[in-house]
Amino acid sequence: MKILVVGSGGREHALCWAISASPLCGTLWCAPGNAGIRDVAQCLDIKADDVDGLVAFATANAVDLVVVGPEQPLVLGLVDRLNAAGIKAFGPSQEAAALEGSKGFMKDICAKYGVPTAAYRRFTDAAAAKAYVTEQGAPIVVKADGLAAGKGVVIAMTLDEAHAAIDDAMLHGRFGSAGAEVVVEEFMDGEEASFFALCDGVHALPLVGAQDHKRVFDHDQGPNTGGMGAYSPAPVLTPELQDRVMREIVEPTVRGMAAEGKPFKGVLFAGLMIVATPEGPKPRLIEFNARFGDPECQVLMRRLKSDIVPLLLATCDGQLDHVDVRWHDDPALCVVMAAEGYPGDYVKNTAIGGLDDAGKVDGVTVFHAGTKVAKTPEGDDRVLANGGRVLGVTATAKTVAEAQALAYQAVDRIRWPEGFCRRDIGWRAVEREQKQG
Ligand code: AMP
Ligand code: GLY
Repeated sequence: MKILVVGSGGREHALCWAISASPLCGTLWCAPGNAGIRDVAQCLDIKADDVDGLVAFATANAVDLVVVGPEQPLVLGLVDRLNAAGIKAFGPSQEAAALEGSKGFMKDICAKYGVPTAAYRRFTDAAAAKAYVTEQGAPIVVKADGLAAGKGVVIAMTLDEAHAAIDDAMLHGRFGSAGAEVVVEEFMDGEEASFFALCDGVHALPLVGAQDHKRVFDHDQGPNTGGMGAYSPAPVLTPELQDRVMREIVEPTVRGMAAEGKPFKGVLFAGLMIVATPEGPKPRLIEFNARFGDPECQVLMRRLKSDIVPLLLATCDGQLDHVDVRWHDDPALCVVMAAEGYPGDYVKNTAIGGLDDAGKVDGVTVFHAGTKVAKTPEGDDRVLANGGRVLGVTATAKTVAEAQALAYQAVDRIRWPEGFCRRDIGWRAVEREQKQG
């Protein structure tokens, strides 16, 4: 098969890595890809949000399957355009991607189909939003409705912070049109985890859980990021809780979206809060994403034992009831290395050395995110950082503690003075392992 992956992050490197290992994969392209993806796919000079360019390439090259990594092209309707051109594509339609693209839409679907999530109200008027916040009291959560690159959510501990967040989004246009509407919702307290399921519009096939680390610094300090590291499985998601997530969150959503005439096909990423209740832990939905997580995808791909390509095809073809999926028991853990300054302004075009050495550590795969290749004066290839999150150093081992040790051993072989990482990725799971002795 001829397969095209869209995107340029660590998620797309992991997807290309898994797809390229499939006996079904003949030619693999990635648009635009990065320095690491070059090892497993041919990179194309087409941006991930260049819908016309991607459709033209896929048509001209008779691509059999397009796999869309990031949310932007999904929300722009890339999958609809490819399908209209007769090309199979993994990912939801524009209408179904609204589960991620509009928080208000997602909350309305949850309310209509009984999915447990935080109580909420939608607002297009700042004064009304502020009056509601005042009536509800803090802590309270203010979210820009549309895509805001992970920056559109404010957990307001005081009314002043909540009012300022509403002003920023609705009056000062901080997120452009994405903030013209806001969702104000109840603050939920608990432990966060993510769960992933493939959905073909009718059936849902559970994948596995993972835990991300959203804050930039150790001990969950500093601003939110796209994710500084992840591991899978997430011990907090017991088999019983995973069953509940499927029954109470994923399946009603798949049924609801079908009933709305917007069947969801692709991977549904449920961001969860595991809330303590007198009856025991209960999963509540924080948000849906319409794609794999990054860096969650890196650990999922390292754990996936089944060939990924039949799973992607079954998702596109409405055949998920005919496939099963197998996983390696060993946990996987990914440490993200980011450029100094991230998630704010960060340094660019700094040289990264030691990548080959790092990849030689037992059980380690170094996935690239924001990297590119440049020629040295001697004509050799050199890897440069050109993004905020730059590498995803991923290890598997018998325990999370061992995977963590291997990942950091590999991190320490990377020579990149302008890079940094958190040193505590996986701490919750390591603590749990220690308690269990
Ligand atoms: P989102 O972009 O909706 O995933 O939100 C980003 C982060 O904000 C989440 O990962 C949570 O840590 C936090 N968050 C979002 N909504 C809530 C909520 N209702 N209660 C508590 N924390 C939340
Ligand atoms: N790591 C969280 C996300 O991909 O949204």
